Amino acid sequence: MPHLDKALNIEDLRKIARRKLPEPLFNYIDGGADSESNVCGNTHAYDAVKLVPEYLVDVANVDTSTRVLGRDISMPLFLGPTGMTRLFHHDGETAVSRAAADIGTYYALSTVGATSIEDVAKACSGPKCFQIYVMKDRGLTHEFIQRCKDANYDSLMLTVDIPVAGYRERELRYGFTLPPKLNLAGVIGFAARPGWVYRALTHPRATLANVSHKIPEGSSQSTSLMEYIANQFDPSVSWDDLAWMIEEWGGPFVIKGLLSPTDARRAVDTGVTAISVSNHGGRQLDSTLSAFEALGPIVDEVGGECEIICDGGIRRGTHVMKALARGATACSIGRPYLYGLAAGGQAGVTRVLELLRDEIERDMALLGCRNVAEIDRKHLA
Ligand SMILES: Cc1cc2nc3c(=O)[nH]c(=O)nc-3n(C[C@H](O)[C@H](O)[C@H](O)COP(=O)(O)O)c2cc1C
Repeated sequence: MPHLDKALNIEDLRKIARRKLPEPLFNYIDGGADSESNVCGNTHAYDAVKLVPEYLVDVANVDTSTRVLGRDISMPLFLGPTGMTRLFHHDGETAVSRAAADIGTYYALSTVGATSIEDVAKACSGPKCFQIYVMKDRGLTHEFIQRCKDANYDSLMLTVDIPVAGYRERELRYGFTLPPKLNLAGVIGFAARPGWVYRALTHPRATLANVSHKIPEGSSQSTSLMEYIANQFDPSVSWDDLAWMIEEWGGPFVIKGLLSPTDARRAVDTGVTAISVSNHGGRQLDSTLSAFEALGPIVDEVGGECEIICDGGIRRGTHVMKALARGATACSIGRPYLYGLAAGGQAGVTRVLELLRDEIERDMALLGCRNVAEIDRKHLA
């Protein structure tokens, strides 16, 4: 697709996504909670430290591969979970998971994805993680774990930074809520993108595929499902639930959404394989530490005892360099691949992954690192 080839960085793909998506959907991806200070803050935090390259190293063959959550991946970057991905392109989670598999990295499917655990497993031959929210209906959580085992998922990820939903004003302005109650601005936003509307009407409707069996037949599927899921988020989830899930799953397990070294210590003591240092891309509590700012103290507390993922604000290969130099095992992204998906389906996600892979490879060579293990604290000032 020629318009994708012209995109030279993530911001270019963001602009294409903005042109293609109805305004409520673009803002759903792009926005965050409250004043959205974390959304920009996550990326700007990388500017506070500088890279220190070392030269006259033979970097003729740079190896970007690494290992995370029990699987070898082709680069220290993977695709984090995002809900209702099929809203942004009719091929949705299937396209994203295939693009990840093609390039050789992990894909994490969200509990609130629009494609089922089983359908992603069929589509995706690469490493797969399922991101789980503990539901009030603990039977459902148990069911998710069993389904992931049956479908051969490699790892499980529990997101903990959403005891209640963040206050996202951009969504409220269009009535793009859970369940959706579109207002005039929302309707106009969709009407202004007839191409998207046509494709939405000519493809199966995006729905919460992992819980659709919970709604009685004949009821208004999408609205009831949204209401069901909105009521299922459990603000009383505790460390005991984490311990129960780790044991029930019995494989690589990541806790996502920690910013505090104290929580990181507790997570390691409870038995996690990995910690995803994250503020949910600025969509939950605003005005927190950025993922990169929180990374250092967490590495100092539990580095070497578990894998550490830096999640949020990654838009450049240099951001990955800085996170790895500060002790991260790998990084993950959300919005960048959604921009790519909206811009061009699977080809758009591939474009995002190729751009970032090429930047990572080039930056490693420029930094003087032949492999991921060589990216070190000495490369940061
Ligand atoms: C549209 C959207 C939906 C998301 N849905 C989920 C989700 O269902 N579960 C989850 O753990 N994180 C979710 N996230 C957060 C991402 O996994 C990730 O933490 C965040 O996007 C990282 O920041 P970045 O967008 O700057 O890369 C979502 C993010 C976006 C943008």
